[in-house]
Amino acid sequence: MNSVTVRAPATTANLGPGFDSIGMALDMWNDLTVTRGKFSVSTVGEGADLLPQDTRNLVITGLEAVFNHIGEPVPGLQYECTNRIPYARGLGSSSAAIVSGLVAGSAISGADLTKEELTILAADIEGHPDNVAPAIYGGCTVGVRNGTDKWIVDQVKVPDELYAVLFVPEMLTNTHESRAVLPDQISRTDAVFNIGRAALLVNALSSGRLELLKYATDDRLHQPHRTQAFKALPHLIKSALKGGAHGAFLSGAGPSVLALATGREVTISYEMSETARTFGVDGKPMIMAVTHEGASVVSNS
Ligand code: HSE
Repeated sequence: MNSVTVRAPATTANLGPGFDSIGMALDMWNDLTVTRGKFSVSTVGEGADLLPQDTRNLVITGLEAVFNHIGEPVPGLQYECTNRIPYARGLGSSSAAIVSGLVAGSAISGADLTKEELTILAADIEGHPDNVAPAIYGGCTVGVRNGTDKWIVDQVKVPDELYAVLFVPEMLTNTHESRAVLPDQISRTDAVFNIGRAALLVNALSSGRLELLKYATDDRLHQPHRTQAFKALPHLIKSALKGGAHGAFLSGAGPSVLALATGREVTISYEMSETARTFGVDGKPMIMAVTHEGASVVSNS
């Protein structure tokens, strides 16, 4: 194989209470073409001016992980990235980069790795599976670490007609900084609060009892702490619910706020935008479907 083009979706992580465990794939895609030749990296679209155009780029981290895994040297390759996923906004742009690199590496090396193998490599790079697993499998996933080097992932059935209504602020979030504000210890009361809601969330999605999501997307592990740096968050969540969302939460480490809806998407998006304006948060609303497809090879030659 001389050249391969792959795509990987945006993802939202946590969905409120499922910190570092639950995630969902969204119908917005980054493309990566890898062609044999003298090493080069080019990026167009979201984050093009901010992303490293050298081996620090996460698409290369992903691709190299495959070659290391199969014990073969990395050949000379040209990387062309077309990015549509907003960069550093809590929509899984890093995971899409890692996963697209892995899928391209798996194809061009002939390793033909399974989704399970790709997930282990991806989650080892990212440190948690809540973005990379839905980027690989599509739909909604629950992922947990088992031991030091294994990851267990299962898919959650989600209603076909589920939409994500997002408010995507202009400000960027550094995930490491956003995680650094989280306490190492939590009370049993807060643990119980989140355990029950994470279970309720998965059950509500798979049973289609979406009226439960307004309880099931609440959280005490990370959102209250992240609100310190993003005071508009609870107000954006409230306005999404007022507009008719089933549930709403901080997408991943933020700053995007995501509302789950099966109708009234434009109203929800209007309410969130108005609240953002009131709080002086610049940004834009976006509406996208939940995708049931994960990253894949689009073409090769
Ligand atoms: N679960 C992660 C977090 C997602 O909330 O920090 C972002 O990588």
